[in-house]
Amino acid sequence: MLTKRLEKIVQAIPRCTSLADVGCDHGYIGLSALTLGKANNVVFVDVSQPSLHKAKQNCPQNFESKVHFVCQDGLQSLNVDCAVIAGMGGLEILSILNNADVLPQKLVLQPMRNQQEVRKFLCKHYNITCDYTFFDGKFYDLVVAEKSPTGCVLTEDEIQFGKSNLATPCADFALFLAKEQAKLQQILQQCNDSNVQHKLQRVSAVLAKIQEELQ
Ligand SMILES: C[S@@+](CC[C@H](N)C(=O)[O-])C[C@H]1O[C@@H](n2cnc3c(N)ncnc32)[C@H](O)[C@@H]1O
Repeated sequence: MLTKRLEKIVQAIPRCTSLADVGCDHGYIGLSALTLGKANNVVFVDVSQPSLHKAKQNCPQNFESKVHFVCQDGLQSLNVDCAVIAGMGGLEILSILNNADVLPQKLVLQPMRNQQEVRKFLCKHYNITCDYTFFDGKFYDLVVAEKSPTGCVLTEDEIQFGKSNLATPCADFALFLAKEQAKLQQILQQCNDSNVQHKLQRVSAVLAKIQEELQ
C-alpha cells in the first residue's frame, strides 16, 4: 500500500518506454510504474548498495526481464525517456541533472527543499507541465517537466510558489500559504527584518487572491 505522497508521484509519471527511478531506495515508485503499465522498463538507481538491495528484494520475479539495478551516483550515462527523482533535496536533484550525460525527455521531481532552485534550472531546458503542493503529513511539491529546446519563462511568483498552484489553486496550497503566513508573522514579532516583511507581503497577497478563487 503506497503512501499518499508515493501515490501522487506515481500518478504523475507519464507513459514511457524506459524509466529511471533515481534514489529508488525501497523501489516502490518504479515498481508501481511497472505494475500500472506506465513504463516498459525501469532502471532502479541508488548511490547506496543497501538501499538498492531493498528495491531488489521488493521486486517480484515476473518483472525480471523489465528491470535493471544500478548502484551509482545519479543518472550519469543512463539514457532514459523519463526519470523520477523523489524524496531528495533540490540541490541533490540539481547535482544529478547537471551531471547527467543526457537529460531525460521527461522528469517527475519531488524536491524536499530548494524548490525554487529546481524551477530555475528546469526553465532553462524544460517546459513545466505541472507544479503543485499537496499535504501528506507535511507539505510536498511535485514538479513534472518535459524537455523543450527553448525552455520556458516563469514569473517570480511561479518560481516561488509553483505554476499550477497559481493557475489552479487547491485547498492544500491555501493551507500551506496560511502556515507560511503565520510562521512569517511570528518571526516578524521577534525581529523587524525587511526581507521577512517582503516575503510576508507576497505570501499574504497570493493567499488573499486564491482564497477568493477557492470560495
Ligand atoms: C529519502 S530516500 C527517497 C526514496 C524514494 N525515492 C522516495 O521518494 O520515497 C532517498 C534515496 O536517494 C538515494 N540517493 C541520494 N542521493 C543520490 C544520488 N546522487 N544518486 C542516487 N541515489 C541517491 C539515497 O541513498 C536514498 O536511498
